Amino acid sequence: MARIGLLTGGGDCPGLNPVIRAIVRKGIDHYGHEIFGFRKGWKGVLENDAIELTRENTSGILHKGGTMLGTSRTNVYKTENGEERVLASLQERGIDVLIPIGGDDTLGVANKLFAAGFPTVGVPKTIDNDLNATDFTFGFQTAVQIATEAIDRLHSTAESHDRVIVCEVMGRDAGWIACWSGMAGGADVILVPEHPFDVDEVCAHIRNRHENSGRTFSIVVVAEGATRSDGGAAATAADTLDSFGHVRLGGIAFELEKEIEERTGYESRATVLGHIQRGGSPVAFDRVLGTRFGVAAIDAASNGDFGQMVALHGTAIELVALEDALSQPKLLDPALFETAQVFFG
Ligand code: F6P
Repeated sequence: MARIGLLTGGGDCPGLNPVIRAIVRKGIDHYGHEIFGFRKGWKGVLENDAIELTRENTSGILHKGGTMLGTSRTNVYKTENGEERVLASLQERGIDVLIPIGGDDTLGVANKLFAAGFPTVGVPKTIDNDLNATDFTFGFQTAVQIATEAIDRLHSTAESHDRVIVCEVMGRDAGWIACWSGMAGGADVILVPEHPFDVDEVCAHIRNRHENSGRTFSIVVVAEGATRSDGGAAATAADTLDSFGHVRLGGIAFELEKEIEERTGYESRATVLGHIQRGGSPVAFDRVLGTRFGVAAIDAASNGDFGQMVALHGTAIELVALEDALSQPKLLDPALFETAQVFFG
């Protein structure tokens, strides 16, 4: 029996509640642990703000989006005496093992705490699916489903008005959401951070479709982090940086709307899906993956497998060193993008 702490950090993600529920159910029923959930990510650890998690208060959350613990982008290592304060708070509450559930920023802190001697086990989370060392993260399939449904809806209005519609989806460093939803939704061009684009080529695809296949509308799906082949950074929605140094991306669809209309003469519109992609109920795949990750994380915490992250490899859940997961972002599979390109224009 041990006292386990957990937290959800960074952007929220459909599937977080299934992870929490799984850790609590197996942790209490099978191992007899006490489980504490820190509120609002690392902020809750810094402030020693936690609640005891029980079967009762984690029941009925499996299908709910967001996170029952709340989240924040608080960076321990940008806070004065952050590490010291976190270790003191964990000691004060008698936590033996901490399970941070988050993306590269949250897991980066988990890895540093592990290096400082505190037992941690990571659970990977991001709708962007760009975390290394795991084939998928939960939340991704939900985001893809939401974006695909939006693209389906954009088709009928684009067709009615003979318009080009540029749909901007999330994806800071990697174009996983853009590529999957674009392929599933039958997009005519997909733009991703891994392949800087030339707007004249984009227009050539659209012209080809309109002139040679008799179509009078087109759908372009663009990842928020897409950049141009002639250089420059991704479009930003605000100048301020978050505490992990990330700028707020957004706006490339509006630039493209204007440029495509000017160059082709086809009336164009932009739609930015934004946080709709992160909201609401997780799809079945993400509920199951979150549940499997939660069970594997509490097993690892109970077996002394510290400094590790749970990961999906093929159909199996395995452990990988946190370090491996953090070494670099997992970029879009080039073969997948090549397949998507077959349908451009
Ligand atoms: O990291 C996931 C992500 O959804 C990115 O794709 C996006 O840039 C970012 O979060 C937006 O975060 P925020 O909630 O801070 O606006």
